[in-house]
Amino acid sequence: MTKVAPSILTADFSEIGKTICDVIDWGADWIHCDVMDGVFVPNMTFGPKMVKDMKQAMVKGAKKQVPFDVHLMITQPERYVEDYVKAGADYLTVHQEATVHLQRTLRLIKSYGIKAGVVLNPSTSLSTLDYILDDVDSIMLMTVNPGFGGQKFIPAMVQKIKDLRKIVDASGKDILIEIDGGVNMNNAKELAEAGVDVMVAGSAVVGAEDPVKVIDYLHSLSR
Ligand code: DX5
Ligand code: ZN
Repeated sequence: MTKVAPSILTADFSEIGKTICDVIDWGADWIHCDVMDGVFVPNMTFGPKMVKDMKQAMVKGAKKQVPFDVHLMITQPERYVEDYVKAGADYLTVHQEATVHLQRTLRLIKSYGIKAGVVLNPSTSLSTLDYILDDVDSIMLMTVNPGFGGQKFIPAMVQKIKDLRKIVDASGKDILIEIDGGVNMNNAKELAEAGVDVMVAGSAVVGAEDPVKVIDYLHSLSR
């Protein structure tokens, strides 16, 4: 079963607590939070306070508790690891391109007892992962250029997912493969079969006419 991590990026932030509970009701496995600093990506969203408040909204109001998957699109993410741990991140994912000492940053995240993720932009080579497989719980591939919801999936990423699947399988390690950007009902089957464990889906879920149907469909897919 493919896990679904709806991104709340395109939601109305003035009623985000309710949206979090709704998305969990619809069947979300994780909640994907997109943190943007306006420097690493040409857009801004929110910081640790918002993540903390969203987590509280889940604890208080949702029917079940799911992991918070925090995607940091910020430069030098190592500066804020502790803040996001305190805010309640369960998976904290940093961009390979945004931190000079990637292995140190991943070790720092894991030192707090939460899961560490690394994410690669579409143009970043998988070879950058060669020496950090011991240090990650999840690897996310951006399948659009980060910064905005609702963009078109980049077709060349299908091969990248397949290549990453081979690397993870050959390593024998328990590492989740996650993709982020442009996932929809039309391309999800091919992406699942390419080897994805967790699909982030923003506009395809939040704002869909029938979000339960979309999540059920993504759940029905497998590698
Ligand atoms: C883009 C974000 C994504 C985005 C996905 O920078 O990291 O998580 O919200 O949105 P969709 O699914 O609409 O491409
Ligand atoms: Zn994201």
